[in-house]
Amino acid sequence: MANDTDTVAFDVIDGIAWVRFNRPDKRNAMSPTLNRAMMEVLDELEFRSDVAVLVLTGEGAAWTAGMDLKEYFRETEAEGLKGVRRSQRESYGWWRRLRWYQKPTIAMVNGWCFGGGYGPLFACDLAFAADEAKFGLSEINWGILPGGGATKVAVELLPFRKAMYHALLGEPIDGKTAAEWGLVNESVPLAQLKDRVSEVAKILRAKNPVALKATKDAIRRVGVMTYDEAEDYLVRAQEAANSFDNEGRKEGIRQFIDEKSYKPGLGAYDK
Ligand code: ACO
Repeated sequence: MANDTDTVAFDVIDGIAWVRFNRPDKRNAMSPTLNRAMMEVLDELEFRSDVAVLVLTGEGAAWTAGMDLKEYFRETEAEGLKGVRRSQRESYGWWRRLRWYQKPTIAMVNGWCFGGGYGPLFACDLAFAADEAKFGLSEINWGILPGGGATKVAVELLPFRKAMYHALLGEPIDGKTAAEWGLVNESVPLAQLKDRVSEVAKILRAKNPVALKATKDAIRRVGVMTYDEAEDYLVRAQEAANSFDNEGRKEGIRQFIDEKSYKPGLGAYDK
């Protein structure tokens, strides 16, 4: 099934949702309109039974050239604090949604990735880049600090010296360097990028979805915990995940609604 809005497009093919930033003429810069459309698309896809994996990529030469300097910054700033806060909520909102998405997610970085683009880059569980892609914290080049989480993403993913160099100099790096530095998992020639991402997505598609969600959340959560906190969290997360697979609850409902063999208000179902 395919769908297109003005600024975000997607296709669902064999369990993989291919979602695309779709403003190629503007190098897929994230405007408020795009941010709202992306949240709607994520909403639409998250719990669909025909979607096992989500891939986020870009139409044309860019993955995303970051925030739209005209529509996201200049025009919302002209509305005052109310406009600024609204546009922040809209962008940070879908990045946060993506960080904790129900399905595993892959960033397929086909081209330019700047500034605010580091939000969705980090939000995706895995990231694969074209060798030809270019990544940059370009904020310093036009006079702001890397906001919207971009500084945090750099520090999470890069060693201290590289993060500092990347943010202070504003020099773009290519996909190969991004992979060496740890911004992405791998870099391959652009012509091979979709095949490689398809291969990885198919491997994920075959795994237990409850275990995938529990595992991706655990990887994101335990980093800020002590060992003992992590151990405790992981025990509880494992037990919670097990309960998702608990067929017994369904059996309890079946015996009450369909079989009418017991009353849950008065006692337990027959195991
Ligand atoms: N915001 C708004 N418009 C943009 C953006 C952006 N971030 N990036 C590109 N565009 C627009 C251009 O203004 C231009 O519009 P026009 O055709 O109406 O004149 C169109 O997209 C094409 O851009 P070009 O610069 O002509 O494309 P080119 O391929 O030569 O260069 C590049 C691509 C390097 C990505 C360049 O557009 C660029 O430097 N963009 C800004 C990148 C950036 O610093 N983003 C902000 C990061 S900071 C943050 O997100 C908080």
